[in-house]
Amino acid sequence: MKDAISAHGGRLINQELSGKEAENIDTGSMPTIHLSAREISDLEMIAIGAFSPLRGFMGRDDYESVISNMRLNNGLPWTIPIKLAVSKENAAELKLDQDIALLDKDKHAVAILELREKYKYDKAKEALEVYGTTDEKHPGVAYLYQEGEVLLGGAIHLLERQHDEDPAYANYRLDPAESRSIFKEKGWRRIVGFQTRNPVHRAHEYIQKCALETVDGLFLHPLVGATKSDDIPADLRMKCYVTILEKYYPKDRVVLGVLPTAMRYAGPKEAIFHAIIRKNYGCTHFIVGRDHAGVGDYYGSFDAHYIFDEFGADELEITPLFFDYTFYCRRCGGMASYKTCPHDADEHIALSGTKVREMLRSGQMPPAEFSRPEVAKILLEGMGKS
Ligand code: ADX
Repeated sequence: MKDAISAHGGRLINQELSGKEAENIDTGSMPTIHLSAREISDLEMIAIGAFSPLRGFMGRDDYESVISNMRLNNGLPWTIPIKLAVSKENAAELKLDQDIALLDKDKHAVAILELREKYKYDKAKEALEVYGTTDEKHPGVAYLYQEGEVLLGGAIHLLERQHDEDPAYANYRLDPAESRSIFKEKGWRRIVGFQTRNPVHRAHEYIQKCALETVDGLFLHPLVGATKSDDIPADLRMKCYVTILEKYYPKDRVVLGVLPTAMRYAGPKEAIFHAIIRKNYGCTHFIVGRDHAGVGDYYGSFDAHYIFDEFGADELEITPLFFDYTFYCRRCGGMASYKTCPHDADEHIALSGTKVREMLRSGQMPPAEFSRPEVAKILLEGMGKS
C-alpha cells in the first residue's frame, strides 16, 4: 500500500546523518555558531523531513519569495521563513562555501551547515508580511526584532538530536516517516491532523470528533516547541491528552504524537505552515478552527480559513477542514457552533484562553461544559492549586 499522500514537494527529506557518518565528521576544526532554542528545533524539523522540501536554512531567493509570495522560489507554497540569524560581527567572521559547526546551548556540535549565503533582511517587512503587524507586543514580532541582522543560508546535516526533552512528551515523538508507517499499518487512507498549543477543551474534542466522523483516523499533534510564557506548558498539556484519550476516544482511531517546533503566532500564515507540516507527517486533512494560531486581536477569527483560497487545491494537496466558532449550548444540550445552533449567545458556554488561565491561576475549575473535569483537575494540580 502506498502512502495516502506524498510529502510536500514529492519526497520526504532526511538530513540526519547515521551514527557512523556522524562519527567520521570532525567538527573540531570548523568555525562555530551558537543556535537559539528555536533554531535547534527548526534544525531537527528540517532533518527529519517535517519541513520537506527544505534541506536547510533558507537562502535569499526562498526567503524573499516566501515573505512576498507565500511560495518558495520554485513556486511551492510556503508561508513562514525558516532562518538562521547571526549578528553582523559573527557573519563577518564566516566565509562562504565552508562547513560550519552548529552548537547547542551546551556548546555541543549538533549539526553542520554548508554555508552558501549570507544576506541582510528587512525585519519590518518580514513583520508586516508574516505577522501583519510591526507591533512589538506581538510575540512573533518581538522574537523577530531580537534576532541577528544577517541570515545564513545552506543545507544542514544533523549529527545528534537533543536529549533533554521532558519525558512527558519525548515518548510521543514520532518522525514523519514513523507516523506515515503507523497510518499505513492501520490501513488509514484519510487522516486528519490536529494542531494545538492549548490544554484540550470540549470545543477541541468536538471538532476533532466531527472530523473523525468523515475520515479513517485522527492524528492528535500538539505543538511542544517554544510557546509564549503565559501559555500552559507542554508537559501539563500532554498529561491532559493522555487522560482524555483513555477515557473519551476510541483507541484504534487516534494516534498521539508531538510537534517539536516553536509557535510563531502568525495566524493565517501559520495555518498554511501547520497544514504543510502535517502533510509531511502523512495527514490528508487538517483542522482549521477559529483564530487558528492567533494571538490577541491581530487576526480576524476566520482569516486562517480565507488564506486557503490563495492556493489551488492541487498546490497544497492536504484538504483543510474548516470549523466555525464552537461552544456548549444550554438550549441545544450539547456542543454546537454558529453554523448549527439557532440560540442566543447567552445560552452558550465558551471561555477565552486568557479567561481559563485566570480561573486556573485563582484555583477555580472551569465549568464541565467547557473542560472535562479530568482535564481541569490535572491543570489545577499542575499549577499547584488543588
Ligand atoms: S492554536 O494556536 O494551536 O491554533 P488552540 O490549541 O486553541 O490554538 O487551537 C487548536 C485548533 O482548534 C485550531 O485549529 C483552532 O482554530 C481550533 N479551535 C480552538 N478553539 C475553538 C473553538 N472554540 N471553536 C472552533 N475552533 C476552535
